This record gives sequence, C-alpha cells and structure tokens, in this order.
Amino acid sequence: MTDQTPAVCRRLVGRTAVVTGAGSGIGLATARRLASEGAHVVCADIDESAGKAAAAEAGGLFVKVDVTDPAEVEALFKTAYDTYGSVDIAFNNAGISPPDDDSILTTGLEAWKRVQEVNLTSVYLCCKAALPYMQRQGRGSIINTASFVAVMGAATSQISYTASKGGVLAMSRELGVQFAREGIRVNALCPGPVNTPLLKELFAKDPERAARRLVHVPVGRFAEPEEIAAAVAFLASDDSSFVNAAEFLVDGGIAGAYVTPL
Ligand SMILES: NC(=O)c1ccc[n+]([C@@H]2O[C@H](COP(=O)([O-])OP(=O)(O)OC[C@H]3O[C@@H](n4cnc5c(N)ncnc54)[C@H](O)[C@@H]3O)[C@@H](O)[C@H]2O)c1
Repeated sequence: MTDQTPAVCRRLVGRTAVVTGAGSGIGLATARRLASEGAHVVCADIDESAGKAAAAEAGGLFVKVDVTDPAEVEALFKTAYDTYGSVDIAFNNAGISPPDDDSILTTGLEAWKRVQEVNLTSVYLCCKAALPYMQRQGRGSIINTASFVAVMGAATSQISYTASKGGVLAMSRELGVQFAREGIRVNALCPGPVNTPLLKELFAKDPERAARRLVHVPVGRFAEPEEIAAAVAFLASDDSSFVNAAEFLVDGGIAGAYVTPL
C-alpha cells in the first residue's frame, strides 16, 4: 500500500444502494466507492451503455431509468428491493446542465422546465419512491445532489440549474426533519466544481473561463469525482449517524472564501 492508497473501508456490507446518474462523473465514482465498501449497488441511468458498464464494474445491477418518469422511478426502487431485499441508501444524483440554461434574460421556458424536471422533480420522485421502503426498515440514508450554487450566487448564471439546486437543498432539509424519528436521514450534498468530462471539455474550449473560476477555489483546483464519492460514502454509512438535514458542502472552501490566496 502506498501513501496514496486509501485504507480499506467496509462500512456498507450488506446494504443496498441505488445510485442515479451512475454512468458518469460523480455517480460513477460513487458506484465504485459504495461497492468497494461492500454495498449492493443498483446503477440507474438513462444512458444504457454507460450504466451497464458502471454496473459491471460495481458488480451490481443496471436499471435503465429516466428519472423524470414516475413509473420508471417506482420500478427502479422496487427492483432494488426485490433483488437485494432492502433499500438502505438512495443517492439521487442524476442531473443536467445544458447550454440553453443561461441568463434569465435569454433562457426560455422550455429550457427552464427541462432542467427543473431532471434536477428537481426527479429528486422528489426518487425520495417519494425510496421512503416507504426505508420507513418499513426503520433505517435509511438519502443523499440528494445539490451544488455549491445552492448557497452562493454567480454573475455567470445558469438560472434554472441554480434554482433547481436551491430546491433540492430545501427539500432535503425538510425531509430530513420530517423523517428523522423514523431512523431515516436525508442530506443535501453540495459539491464544488468537479473535474468531470463535461467540465474538462468546457474548459478545454475556454481556458479563460476555467481560470476565472479557479481563482475562487481556495485549494486552487477542482475536485476529483472520487473526493465527492468519499463524502457520499460517509453520508451513506453509520459514521454519519448524527448528520441529518445538512447542507453538506464538499467545495474546497469556496463557500467560505471572501478573498483567496494568490
Ligand atoms: N460536475 C460538477 O462540477 C458538479 C458540481 C456540483 C454539482 N454537480 C451535480 O452532480 C450531479 C452529477 O454530475 P456529474 O458532473 O457527475 O454529471 P455527468 O454528466 O458526468 O453524469 C450525469 C449522469 O446522469 C445521467 N442522466 C442525465 N439525465 C438523466 C435522466 N433523465 N435520467 C437518468 N439519468 C440521467 C447521464 O446519462 C449521466 O450518466 C448532477 O446533479 C450535477 O448537477 C456537479
């Protein structure tokens, strides 16, 4: 084992985790991490080939799901339960950030609605589907992916995205309070910018934009997906048993910064 190798952590043996958006980025890194900690991982994605590949890696199950479709979301959690006998962890993570979601002055209603559907309505649907299983078990951890933009504003706006993540944050808080006495924790994960293929592509095209963003990150770099996955694994496990209804920032200090070091 080198200094870089994490100690083997097996906090999730026998638990069943549903991960949406498991085919790429944060979801993929999390599917791998939860599996490495012993969980049965159900990988959900609209992209069949990416989702299948993720499930194969995680030694889990792939379910093709459009997270905006209520029947498909219901079927996802039922499949998890029918296959593995419980639904212990729901990582409601699938989301989009399309280019036609921009300044409020130029973003049309259709673009606004699409982002609300995929980023916010989907989380409502996934929580609604997961909670009854967790209530019956008297145990569960729900982690909903919000973003640092849920807690701070940007002049380079993606108006519907930001509003959707604010909604995810407020909904998660409320659910965490409502179901706390039933042994269910609900937290909003708020990642800072992550070094995912989408961001890499965006910034390769526009290095100035990358530099303008990086200046705000106290640690001076974007997160790796594995660093976000490690936070999800913590929130999923009993190590976080008193963390509930939280705004769980994993942002390298962005939200705490006024002036950053040169
Ligand atoms: N990357 C970042 O910098 C960053 C920062 C903060 C928050 N987030 C949030 O983290 C989450 C994951 O982001 P990522 O960067 O890993 O994205 P990504 O684009 O790499 O992966 C998203 C996955 O979701 C899937 N997906 C999209 N629409 C879907 C739908 N309707 N039904 C089912 N699956 C669908 C995609 O196929 C893809 O596999 C998103 O909610 C995003 O808003 C990302």
